[in-house]
Amino acid sequence: MDALTIISQEHSNMWRLATALDQVASDMQAGAPLEPAFFEAALDYISQFVDHMHHPKEDDFLFRLLRLRSAEAAEVLDALEADHRQGPHNLTQLRAKLNAAAQGQLPIAELAVAINRYTDVLKGHIKTEEKHVLPLARKALLPQDWAEIDQAFLNHSDPVFGDQAKAEFRELFHRIVSLAPDSIGMGASVDGLPVASVVAQQPVLLQVQGLESCYGRIKALKGINLEVRRGETVALVGANGAGKTTFLRAVSGVQPISAGSIHFDGEDISKLRSDKRMRRGICQSPEGRQVFGPLTIEDNLRLGAYTQPKHQVAGDMEKIFAMFPVLKEKRALPAGTLSGGQQQMLAIGRALMGRPSLLLLDEPSMGLAPLLVEEVFNVIKTLKAQGMTILLVEQNAFAALAIADRGYVLETGSVTLTGTGQELINNEQVRAAYLGM
Ligand SMILES: Nc1ncnc2c1ncn2[C@@H]1O[C@H](COP(=O)(O)OP(=O)(O)OP(=O)(O)O)[C@@H](O)[C@H]1O
Ligand SMILES: [Mg+2]
Repeated sequence: MDALTIISQEHSNMWRLATALDQVASDMQAGAPLEPAFFEAALDYISQFVDHMHHPKEDDFLFRLLRLRSAEAAEVLDALEADHRQGPHNLTQLRAKLNAAAQGQLPIAELAVAINRYTDVLKGHIKTEEKHVLPLARKALLPQDWAEIDQAFLNHSDPVFGDQAKAEFRELFHRIVSLAPDSIGMGASVDGLPVASVVAQQPVLLQVQGLESCYGRIKALKGINLEVRRGETVALVGANGAGKTTFLRAVSGVQPISAGSIHFDGEDISKLRSDKRMRRGICQSPEGRQVFGPLTIEDNLRLGAYTQPKHQVAGDMEKIFAMFPVLKEKRALPAGTLSGGQQQMLAIGRALMGRPSLLLLDEPSMGLAPLLVEEVFNVIKTLKAQGMTILLVEQNAFAALAIADRGYVLETGSVTLTGTGQELINNEQVRAAYLGM
């Protein structure tokens, strides 16, 4: 049922976008100016990824097979397919209104009403699918149906749904986030930050204050305050383009900062080179894994230990192999021959070879099949149980918050919420924006 995970993830993206559109619309009702570029990007996203990819794929596979297996499904599927057919038309009309408003031919308040009407339909549609259709599909479809549906959704070379499309998706979502007005971020709004209630009274290991970082004129981090105590697992969650990767890279020292400070174990490391930070125990498993394809698995692991005394490397490598037996089996093969999930294990293993006192993980579950996602999270749980201090960046917000002691929600370069993992999971705004509920 991999397809269901993909569908639900896409629903949660759509939900976040719809929530953001609603917020901008209500700001406009209150007199905020129109931001045409933001709306253009958001509508491009809906057109490309919702109307032209997500919906046809559902019709052609999930809905078609569900009709065969369940008479009960017909009525609701008729309605949803009608929505799918109507989608491009509704979008064209909304674009026309946007253009008219941008040219001063339509009052902005009227555009806001049209946006709300549009997102109401979109949200209603998502709710129906999540509450009725997906549960019914889980019950009624046969294993061979799932095989067919999963294959269609997991096809990485599919021109409209494969890796290329995923890369475009990421790009477009980043654009939306960077164009979103500062006031809304992308999702939850700031209503006074709830303060974390119970935090283990361990000493603070990482203390970040007022951290800012820029790409040219774009400020990607706008004054971040964050701390990690010894032994804690802290999750940093947020939409594409929120600044999560930039933050981790700033902590590990490969991304320059323009203001603020980073203290580690009581020492100001803000100006320390990245290799020096690694020697102090800050080790990162980077976004997109970035293992060295032509080098063997063993050599990749050795690279992670280049700051460590030679005599401990062999023993440490055995510990990694005990944790990830598949890497041991393939130790002499080029890393490029590993599957995505195995490369992720290698990237985590490589970071562990540096004997981290703080482990930074950037989206360890990205691009993995659901079963592997679970495996990666199990590894993180094990490390946590062993007392490792972990700062975990994840788009899979629910899973990350569920294992974290505390979490931070990052939106367009600012922390908008913080609390224990459970508090954030229960938080209405977080649920609406990130968990698709
Ligand atoms: N090399 C770069 N040059 C210019 N802008 C960049 C660069 N890398 C990131 N950005 C911008 O900085 C902002 C934060 O990006 P970052 O990659 O830190 O986000 P993220 O939260 O990690 O996103 P994702 O969930 O997609 O990994 C975005 O607006 C992004 O477009
Ligand atoms: Mg990132």
